[in-house]
Amino acid sequence: MKATVIAPANIAFIKYWGKADSVLRLPLNSSLSMNLSNAYTTTTVEFSSVLKKDSVRLIGGMFFPDEINRIIVALDRIRSYSGIRLFARVVTKNSFPKGIGAAASASGFAALTIAGFAASGKKLTEKELTIFARMGSGSACRSIPDGFVVWEKGNSSDTSYAYSLYSHTYWDLYDILVIVDTGMKKVSTSEGQKGVKTSPFWQERVQKIPDKIKKMKTALREKNYPMLGAMIEDDCLSMHRVMQTQTPPIFYWNNATKKLMEMVRCWRNEGIPVYFTIDAGPNVHLICEKSTVELLKKKLREIEEVKNIIVNTSAPGAHLVDKHLF
Ligand code: DP6
Repeated sequence: MKATVIAPANIAFIKYWGKADSVLRLPLNSSLSMNLSNAYTTTTVEFSSVLKKDSVRLIGGMFFPDEINRIIVALDRIRSYSGIRLFARVVTKNSFPKGIGAAASASGFAALTIAGFAASGKKLTEKELTIFARMGSGSACRSIPDGFVVWEKGNSSDTSYAYSLYSHTYWDLYDILVIVDTGMKKVSTSEGQKGVKTSPFWQERVQKIPDKIKKMKTALREKNYPMLGAMIEDDCLSMHRVMQTQTPPIFYWNNATKKLMEMVRCWRNEGIPVYFTIDAGPNVHLICEKSTVELLKKKLREIEEVKNIIVNTSAPGAHLVDKHLF
C-alpha cells in the first residue's frame, strides 16, 4: 500500500536543546511549539516486494548519506513494529529550503512516520506516532498534533510524547520566517546538542523550563500576546546563550540576524507589537498578530539583507492526503 502525508514544520516557543538519552532522543526539557502553515514536507511511502533495497529521494534537493541512513533506521523501526519485511520507496519534497534552520527534520520525520505506518497497514494512536517520530528527530514529535503543541520530556520512551494544547484555529498568531541566508547550517542540531553540558548555563536553563511552560500556558490561555512574545524571545536568547557558551561554542547568528533582532526592538519601541525567535540557523522568525503582518512585510521588504519571507499562521498537524508523489 502507498501512503502520503503532509506534515508542517514547527517553531518552538520554548525550545528543545540537549538530550537525556541520545538513542531514544529523550530531551533534557519539555518544549512548546506552533505548527507552521506554509513550511511543510510532503512524503509518499510504499513498501514493495519488487525492491531490493530502500530507495529514498528528495525532490528538488539532495540528502547527505547520514540523512539517508537516519531515514532507513526510521523505516527499520516501522518495519519491526508492524512486522513488515519489505523494502520501501520514499519520495519527499519540502515547501521551503532544507538545512537553513527551518525545521525540515521536524516536518520530514513527522511525515515519514505517519506515511510509513499507514503504508505498512499498522494503526497507531497519535501519541504512539509522536513517540516514533521523536526517535527520528526530537522536534518531529511536535509536528504531529494540531496547532499549539507541548512535548512532555518524560523519563522513558513511552512518557516522552507530544499533544495538542490548542487547535490551530484557537489564535490567529503569525510566524513570518525571514530568510537572510539560504546556505546549509554549519553544525547540525544533533551534533550541536552533544556539547550542551559543557555550557555553564545548561542546568540553570533546564531547571527554569517547567515554570516557563506553566507561564506560557497561562499566556496562551489568556491570549496575552505581549506576555507570550516576551517569553518567546527570552527562551530563544536563553537557548542561544547555552549554544554560544558550549565547548566548542556554536554561533548560528550572522550580521543580518543581529540586525533583525535590533530592528524588532526598534519596531517595538515605535509601538509595533512584534517579537523574534531563532532556531539553529541565522534566519529569524517574527511572531506577531494578524493586524501587523502587512506592515511588517512592508518593513522587511526595505531591508537589503532579507532574501525571502515565508508567512505562516498556525497549522493542523501532520495528516494523510490522497495525492501521491509517485
Ligand atoms: C534549535 O529536533 O532537530 O530547533 O533530535 O537531534 O534531530 P534532533 O534535533 P532537532 O532539534 C531542534 C532544535 C531547535 C529547537 C526546537 O525546535 O525545539
